[in-house]
Amino acid sequence: MDGLLSGLRRVQDATVEGKTVLVRVDYNVPLKDGDVSDDARIKSSFPTLMGLLDRGAKLVLLSHLGRPEGKVVPELCLDPVGQRLQALLNHPVRKLADCVGEEVKQAIDEGEAGDLFLLENLRFHPEETANDSQFARRLAALGDLYVNDAFATLHRAHASILGISDYLPAYAGMLVQKEIEALSCLIDEPKRPYLAIVGGKKAKSKLQALRDLLDRVDVVLVGGGVAFTFLRAKGYLVGNSVVDESLVEEIKELIRTAYEKGILILLPRDVVIAQEISATAETVTCRAERIPPGWMGLDIGPETMRKFREQIAEANTVVWIGPMGAFEIEQFSHGTRAIAETLANSNAFTVVGGGETGEAVTKMGQADGISYISTGGGACLALLRGKSLPALEALQG
Ligand code: 3PG
Repeated sequence: MDGLLSGLRRVQDATVEGKTVLVRVDYNVPLKDGDVSDDARIKSSFPTLMGLLDRGAKLVLLSHLGRPEGKVVPELCLDPVGQRLQALLNHPVRKLADCVGEEVKQAIDEGEAGDLFLLENLRFHPEETANDSQFARRLAALGDLYVNDAFATLHRAHASILGISDYLPAYAGMLVQKEIEALSCLIDEPKRPYLAIVGGKKAKSKLQALRDLLDRVDVVLVGGGVAFTFLRAKGYLVGNSVVDESLVEEIKELIRTAYEKGILILLPRDVVIAQEISATAETVTCRAERIPPGWMGLDIGPETMRKFREQIAEANTVVWIGPMGAFEIEQFSHGTRAIAETLANSNAFTVVGGGETGEAVTKMGQADGISYISTGGGACLALLRGKSLPALEALQG
């Protein structure tokens, strides 16, 4: 992995004075009532942005927000992000109405060194996630060079992450460099037992990474939304819990493979259920294999917390990606809090990854006890498989 870091073209080595630099950031931040509720990802881009501004560049920031699926979704416009960025950075931010097109190009061309533009949500265009080469070329036409500082999106082969580097000199930003350096000790020689805790909602990207991680970890604990697709794959009754049916067969295969390799996959034994996700909903703790119809699992239960704590106590390396439940609501936050506290008090090398999980750990006052908090969830897992990513390869050489 050292090779990966040393082979990267670094933004510090680029000549940027008087140039228009396109910086792909990951400002996929949570919003509440139209405002940014956690700005950690915005702040994590500052070393790159300030370095470039100090060196006389004009900056154009590119980001996605949520999954608008190629359509303009007003609630996913980047305006609140631009306002927060401007306030935090104490530097004017010019938010543009689109991310490609003549008006966008003209506004940028008329700007000067030190100006900072923020383009509109890239994913309002279906070509972004399709890694469309024409779209990548249109983005590239807006600047002279490209810096990728969107660590949390590095596992996506999208136009602004991958395709664009075919058309511009491409460099790794400071955040991407810092993340790879911090995670490299987990890739090279993790101290065993090595335990992975996987939760959150995005089952698909977790599953892809877990398949490769099986060759590296000793134990996997599964909680959060992901767990219900695993429970379903075991043939359990999951009521109204969110399940990705398209993944059930793959998960069965994963469980079989883990068994053959002697890797322990622990699923929840009990769960906290409710009929709706709300702070006032009635909650019950029940066995994970028998969630009644009309009820959904929203947190791990006390017996599962105890089992998970026992496993963590044995581990020397722990990676945690994805909360254990709907932690933003107090009554479904206990599992996430239990894991956060256990990790913070453990002697193991502990890595927490993902915007939501990092946010939970910080809000619960446990961040200081964690060895490293990564801005990436899926990207962090993808990198921990020990394989390179196409978006990283595009920054090498
Ligand atoms: C993330 O939050 O993990 C990144 O921003 C990537 O988002 P995505 O899973 O919607 O591609």
